[in-house]
Amino acid sequence: MAEPQAEGHKAEGEVDVEGYKAEIRRTFALVEPISVQAAGIFYPTLWEVDTSTKPLFKDTDMDKQGEKLMKTLGVAVAMLNKMDTLKPILENLGRKHVDYGVTPEMYPSVGKALLITFEKGLGEECTPLTTKAWTWVFGIISSICIAAASEVKPEEKPEEK
Ligand code: HEM
Repeated sequence: MAEPQAEGHKAEGEVDVEGYKAEIRRTFALVEPISVQAAGIFYPTLWEVDTSTKPLFKDTDMDKQGEKLMKTLGVAVAMLNKMDTLKPILENLGRKHVDYGVTPEMYPSVGKALLITFEKGLGEECTPLTTKAWTWVFGIISSICIAAASEVKPEEKPEEK
């Protein structure tokens, strides 16, 4: 007899997409009200995890940046069931990031900093399922951004942000 599973019924090695989406929505709803504090944890963590990312933010208004990051994550969470709409938005974001000096190697660093932020910000509410779900969704977001970025030719890079 099958045991009830915290992540829903799935075969071993199979991704429980609906369970992940529900977990992402649940935890994002918890993080949203504390987004200023979350952004305050996220960026210093990112710079610690990957020191090469720090110079990229030297002229950045970090209060506004935290807001933008949370807003975009919110859009991604709201559109988890509308990949057709979300994909071009992320492709555009990925292309813009080339101009910011972001390299493909920096995406896993951002993913790692995001997970640490969830652990610190959510405390006990951050479970192994939270980690799995966000790793899954961040993997999808990153791969779309990176794929679009890889198609940007040097002469096509926008001059301004
Ligand atoms: C995949 C998840 C990511 C999301 C959702 C995201 C979101 C954003 C948003 C919304 C902006 C504001 C400007 C715009 O719309 O283009 C931005 C700018 C920026 N992002 Fe990201 N980003 C991501 C990944 C990264 C990575 C991997 C890095 C590498 C360190 C990075 C570094 C930056 C920098 C340097 C800027 C410009 C800051 C400025 O205006 O001075 N982002 N990001």
